[in-house]
Amino acid sequence: MPAPRPRIFRPTPANLARLAAALRRGALVGVPAETVYGLAADALDPAACAAIFTAKGRPSTDPLIVHLAAARDLPKVAITNAAIAPLARAFWPGPLTLVLPKLSCIPDLITAGRPTVAVRVPGHPLFRELIRLAGRPLAAPSANPFGYISPTRAAHVRDGLTGTALRAVLDGGECTVGVESTILDLTDPDHPRLLRPGGIAVEALERVLGRPVLRPKPARLSPAAAAPAPGMLAQHYSPRTPLQLHPRLDVAALDALPADEAALLLAKPARLVRATERKRIRWLSETGAEAEIARHLFARLRELDAGGWRRLHAELPAGTEGLVPAIRDRLLRAAAKR
Ligand code: TXA
Ligand code: MG
Repeated sequence: MPAPRPRIFRPTPANLARLAAALRRGALVGVPAETVYGLAADALDPAACAAIFTAKGRPSTDPLIVHLAAARDLPKVAITNAAIAPLARAFWPGPLTLVLPKLSCIPDLITAGRPTVAVRVPGHPLFRELIRLAGRPLAAPSANPFGYISPTRAAHVRDGLTGTALRAVLDGGECTVGVESTILDLTDPDHPRLLRPGGIAVEALERVLGRPVLRPKPARLSPAAAAPAPGMLAQHYSPRTPLQLHPRLDVAALDALPADEAALLLAKPARLVRATERKRIRWLSETGAEAEIARHLFARLRELDAGGWRRLHAELPAGTEGLVPAIRDRLLRAAAKR
């Protein structure tokens, strides 16, 4: 018998009602977020959450993010503090996750036994609508097999999680942000700590908080790097094809590439690539705009990974502001040795 393949549902009112009912019964559903697709389940149902870990092949030490339909629901899952309101006003719904002391209704499985819970209000309106219809918070990690490239289209979820307990994916189109949410530890509001760079720039958080955010050491290329948060492994988001990073790949470097290797550029090269090269020389943006680079990063990496190349090469952007730290983090982890 062929492995069960999840079905992709168009976002009609009838389908949304059907998927919300499935979530209430404890099923898994693939959901579109503005960042990456999520693998959602009822956050208050430990058995449903356990199925997330099994489907992803994710270790139980790696906690899940809880998603809410609106910021006003936050006091139902976490202990709030004064630093939250301005952040929520500025960035929710959107790609910001806050780590806060948890309330007892949140199963220990979700938080990997920690006293804190990660929470966000997602920017994608279909995700929020599904939470509203399900009538409960939804736990959701990115909907990829553990360690592989995150999904930014419904088909990525279907293809990656075929053969698991997942039966349904809600199609919300291509993710507009393309990298995961920024995770901020606000357990101690006087000492906010960045746990993962993501779709919201840290300097934007600092402006709203009116104080500096403590940053972790950026991802290193060594697999032995200490993980600043569970799940923040050195090697993550990885293609199966070996990936090598470069500060820049100029025309001479591209001309010198062996015929069985492919390259991913940050921007369209000034000199037009020969038609025969278009298959193995790809770019993330027309002009180098970082939002466009972030939006296309995971999908292009997947395409190249499926191309049968012996090795992939990618340009690593330089910089410490805006979306650059998130793009660098994902590329460095994708290139880290297993
Ligand atoms: O954009 C996103 O955040 C997506 C969408 C689906 O919302 N979700 C996502 O989830 O990226 P995931 O599971 O792939 O990454 C969540 C990260 C993990 O690295 C986990 O360790 C961290 O959040 N995390 C969750 N709860 C935590 C906690 N209580 N303390 C510290 N880190 C936590
Ligand atoms: Mg993930």
